[in-house]
Amino acid sequence: MAGFFITFEGIDCCGKTTQARKLVSYLRRRGHQVLLVREPGGERIAERIRRILLSEKNSEMSLISELLLYQSARAQLTERMILPALKEGKVVVCDRYADSSLAYQGYGRGLNKKMIKQLNQISTSGLVPDLTILLDLPVKISFRRKEKEKRKKDRLERERFEFHQRTRRGYLTIARQNRRRIKLIDGTKDIDETWQNVRKVVDSFFGKARR
Ligand SMILES: Nc1ncnc2c1ncn2[C@@H]1O[C@H](COP(=O)(O)OP(=O)(O)OP(=O)(O)O)[C@@H](O)[C@H]1O
Ligand SMILES: [Mg+2]
Repeated sequence: MAGFFITFEGIDCCGKTTQARKLVSYLRRRGHQVLLVREPGGERIAERIRRILLSEKNSEMSLISELLLYQSARAQLTERMILPALKEGKVVVCDRYADSSLAYQGYGRGLNKKMIKQLNQISTSGLVPDLTILLDLPVKISFRRKEKEKRKKDRLERERFEFHQRTRRGYLTIARQNRRRIKLIDGTKDIDETWQNVRKVVDSFFGKARR
């Protein structure tokens, strides 16, 4: 029996981690074997790459270097964790995956999208999620949630805002181009209402998958 691969996508603070955790406990209650992982990370070497990527000390990192490190972490996670779990028939829930590279590095940073798609193809070994949940959120609300969390945050200048704006729009474009796989959910609703919407999408996915 082959498993199912479900990913969560969207800009910062749209609720990916919150909803992914809810989904995992829901699926476990229903008897599924579930593996929850996150990107970048989810595997020993990939977690080390994550530290390099997220460290504030590495501000001189080039865009290409950043792109390749994300891809490298993804290759590691896919080969060592995701593919084996799917083979065992587990449901794998991943907090961000290849769509993040296209949205952030492609649409956000403006790197060549064709190149990113090729790199995604390599780092995923051609694996495509069965279902992707895109939690859409206006950048203003994302920034507000970040402030509320009192997360460390660099300057809130215009450029930063526009980068996230391009990323959000990129996600919406990717969703339009992959209507069957990517389900768009309004991320502005409260946590419980959002979860009900996620649950509906997942129930309908499993309903169809069983048929
Ligand atoms: N629907 C919601 N309404 C209001 N606040 C929310 C909602 N969902 C999550 N939050 C809050 O917003 C913050 C970010 O949520 P969460 O960590 O789930 O987002 P994320 O998409 O995983 O963010 P990141 O991309 O930074 O990892 C948390 O403080 C969380 O409690
Ligand atoms: Mg998160």
